[in-house]
Amino acid sequence: MSKELDRVRDAWETLGTSDPYWAVLTEHEFHDGQAKTRFFDSGRAEIRTLLDVLDKHRRPYGDTAVDFGCGVGRLSFALAEHFKNVTGVDVARSMIEEARASNPFPDRVRFVHNDAATLPFDDDSVDLVISVITLQHIRPALSLRYLLEMARIVRPGGHLLFQIPSHIPAVRPIPPWHSKAELHVLEAPSSLQVGENSYVRVGVRNASDGEWPPGQLLNAGNHWRRNGLMAVQDDGRDSVRCPLGPGDHAEALIRIKAPAEPGSYELEVDVVQESVAWWADRGSQTVRVPVEVHAAAPAPAPADDVDGAQAPAPAAPATIGAMEMHGVRKDLVCALFEQIGCTVLEATPDERAGSDWASFFYAIEVGEYRADINHGI
Ligand SMILES: C[S@@+](CC[C@H](N)C(=O)[O-])C[C@H]1O[C@@H](n2cnc3c(N)ncnc32)[C@H](O)[C@@H]1O
Repeated sequence: MSKELDRVRDAWETLGTSDPYWAVLTEHEFHDGQAKTRFFDSGRAEIRTLLDVLDKHRRPYGDTAVDFGCGVGRLSFALAEHFKNVTGVDVARSMIEEARASNPFPDRVRFVHNDAATLPFDDDSVDLVISVITLQHIRPALSLRYLLEMARIVRPGGHLLFQIPSHIPAVRPIPPWHSKAELHVLEAPSSLQVGENSYVRVGVRNASDGEWPPGQLLNAGNHWRRNGLMAVQDDGRDSVRCPLGPGDHAEALIRIKAPAEPGSYELEVDVVQESVAWWADRGSQTVRVPVEVHAAAPAPAPADDVDGAQAPAPAAPATIGAMEMHGVRKDLVCALFEQIGCTVLEATPDERAGSDWASFFYAIEVGEYRADINHGI
């Protein structure tokens, strides 16, 4: 396995072990496996939206579907209502285990762990591959390999339905007179161990008289201060969902990491337009909460450690892997499929990657693509 796939797998393994339902949709209500009915209902709605595209083009579904990057099975289970055989594939064993444990359709749905750059299916063996909010976390070179793999495993006349971001449109600076936020800390830890990961939940209100437009890399972010001085300038970020009109509210959940030195800190939250400005520098009010950062607790000495030998270093606190975002230009995606004899039925703008990205949903009809033939790529 490549180093790149190692990294991707390890990041998702950590997320799948610590908070899998939240990691899939990154919405607060799904933390710790809460609101599962709504979680799986959202999968049904998503599959209905995807299959509507095949209906619109009057294409049959077939019997066999693959859900690439299936997570805990949100979409795989919904696919089982339309397909006789569904296989969910995921790079994280922890996600696959959770999906298997709650599989309501064991006779129709199976889950496969796969941490290779190839897909574990024969050529032309499935009717449909779907993939949403997955390729956006994979670097472009690897995403392109997976797209070719999807075309290989789908029979001629079958379909791929997937979403992948294209690029971040050029950022237009929000004018200083609209860079005014009112911030409230809704939830924050009062003490942490050095280097420990946690979250701070903040309410953000547009306190200006102008709209904050979408796609402008507007984030809530945090600093750490000690004795009033900046100790850590850049820590966590979460996007502020825009557009946000004057007086409108949004919530952000910032993943924070406690500083490396123990001490009494203030966790300070501000709004930042990336590559433009932190808004405190434009006169916007930040918000601060006190956080005690403790040295890591020493591990208890083993019972038979009677000779004064040094106790082993304490285990590092659990860390949550980062979710990277990547895009593949729409022109390149379309050209790739055309080059291998597939038909692009749709490449339509899509909002699944959030407001900062130009993202697209693709419906591809697979042609006579053979991985062992040089199609000029
Ligand atoms: C944000 S979740 C989305 C899950 C599912 N598609 C849904 O919408 O409910 C992304 C999933 O993709 C998986 N993933 C990331 N890279 C992958 C890869 N190279 N191969 C298979 N799965 C991958 C992650 O482990 C994670 O479960």
